[in-house]
Amino acid sequence: MAMRIPPAVIEEIKFRNDIESVVSSYVNLKPAGSNLIGLCPFHSEKTPSFTVFKNTQTCYCFGCGSGGDVVTFIMKMENLDYVGALEFLAKRVGLTIPRDPVDEERQTRSTRILEMNKVAAKFFHASLLSPDGKKALEYLQKRKFSPGLIKHFGLGYSPNSFNALMNHLKQNGFTEKEMVSGFLCGISKKTGKPFDLFRNRVIIPIIDTKGNVIAFGGRVLDDSLPKYLNSSDTPVFKKSKNLFALNYARKECADRIILCEGYMDVIALHGAGFTNAVATLGTAITPEQARIMERYTKSVVIAYDSDEAGQRAADKAFKLLGEVGLDVKILKMNGAKDPDEFIKKYGPERFRRLLDESKTHFDFKFEAILAKYDVSQTPEKLKAVNDISDIIAKVISAVEREVYIGKVAEKLEIAKDSLKYDVDRKIRKQTRERQKDESRKIMLDTAGFGDRINPDYAKNVRAASAEESIISIILTYPELLKKVKDGTYNLRAEDFFTQFGKKIFEKAIELYEESASFDYGMLGSEFTADEMGRITSIVLKRNNLSQNGEKELVDCIEVLKKEKSRQSASLADIINAKRNENK
Ligand code: UTP
Ligand code: MN
Repeated sequence: MAMRIPPAVIEEIKFRNDIESVVSSYVNLKPAGSNLIGLCPFHSEKTPSFTVFKNTQTCYCFGCGSGGDVVTFIMKMENLDYVGALEFLAKRVGLTIPRDPVDEERQTRSTRILEMNKVAAKFFHASLLSPDGKKALEYLQKRKFSPGLIKHFGLGYSPNSFNALMNHLKQNGFTEKEMVSGFLCGISKKTGKPFDLFRNRVIIPIIDTKGNVIAFGGRVLDDSLPKYLNSSDTPVFKKSKNLFALNYARKECADRIILCEGYMDVIALHGAGFTNAVATLGTAITPEQARIMERYTKSVVIAYDSDEAGQRAADKAFKLLGEVGLDVKILKMNGAKDPDEFIKKYGPERFRRLLDESKTHFDFKFEAILAKYDVSQTPEKLKAVNDISDIIAKVISAVEREVYIGKVAEKLEIAKDSLKYDVDRKIRKQTRERQKDESRKIMLDTAGFGDRINPDYAKNVRAASAEESIISIILTYPELLKKVKDGTYNLRAEDFFTQFGKKIFEKAIELYEESASFDYGMLGSEFTADEMGRITSIVLKRNNLSQNGEKELVDCIEVLKKEKSRQSASLADIINAKRNENK
């Protein structure tokens, strides 16, 4: 499936996309010696540990272990695969990549699915307005969705039939395979035949910012379950990377986005003139979605359901949106379960008031605490103070803390200084706990426990570490890689101890054979962005030592082989011992 871009083209793309200039468009970089540093875009931190190495054209975060070359960086930043990242970078500098037939095919397939979706959306919309869709239309009218709004969102109805859409798409020249891969048809386990997935539902087309119909949501007309059926990910749709109604909201949301939980909330809000409302697509908000919003707006008001689940989800959204630097507020609704219901009950004016009264995270939490305790009673008041100082202690900015301390002191009628004393004590405690957690994590990491990328590491640290040295040397000095390949050191893939190391070795040899000039960034075609981060850290460790690479290589190969034979010997011992036991 993966398209192969000729190595010479990859080289040219990388050459023209200097890592410093690429990273700079996402990260504010400052010089640090011969390198550059900035705040890592992949995890939240207050002091910069993301480093760009100009001479090797690589980057690495000493905080979270992300790293690689400019292609890996874009893979992770833009959530693209290797080829996608190369295309992105090529476009950035005005290069066109010569098309490979396999890739051409993939492109065509996506275009076909988008065309098919458009035909399906029209079919659903027409069905809604046909006699067939009478019940669905009545349902929408009952929910006070006007004909204009229905048209604006292209709402539709999927007939109560197993093949209405299928037949229509067939007539329009689409194949069953296309319908299945676009999540419009499923294949019956019993008969092996395809059938319509969306049946007897109100259909909500999901449209991206380019105007493509990329997916569908379908709601039942009654209380049956599941309430919504949503397209799962397809070649043209990733639910974690899209937002419902952003196609309309994007031009109206420079100041503020209203983030809702439900499709119907968004539709109702747009109907009431709040055209800056969007929603996630049947899942909790993802970091990608937070980053997308950050591209379009300065601030977000979270308008989630007023029930407990909604409020818990809001907490998570607060965190993710804050992390990308957005100003975040939460809207508090009383007397209605969600924005749709609120607008219908109380009208747009009252909703606008709620928007204007929306609260910061702190105020929101503080209010909840005040509601929870009866602060006229001393013991309850102390509990309230305790809870609120926990929250203030988590605030990073000292100025912000000062403001909150002032507010709380006034409201609870306590001395500012003693509250500040409590908060400071909590901060120290939190710091201690964090340090403990961190050192525990480092210990575990060193021992290789919880190592997702190379789970074999912990099984024999000596072997695995020798192996990492070997990898770092051959990735840093391709001339040694050539000798390895020619058999000079008698090192083969089977000698490797971990699966991860073995794969790196095999792929490096393979890529070396294919291209005239090898650099380890090319491994990006075979490894994920996280794995590339690990490979970068392996290479970096080497750069810090770098003396006699060849001698070290020979030594490490010896250690690796010895450890491997010891391992198999001890396995043999165990088996023998078991045999003796059984005698
Ligand atoms: P809600 O149950 O709050 O839906 O779920 P809603 O939008 O208010 O719908 P109405 O007003 O009852 O018609 C919020 C969102 O969660 C997802 C949908 O994206 C929905 O809009 N969801 C909910 C599902 O994906 N599947 C479900 O079964 C339920
Ligand atoms: Mn609702």
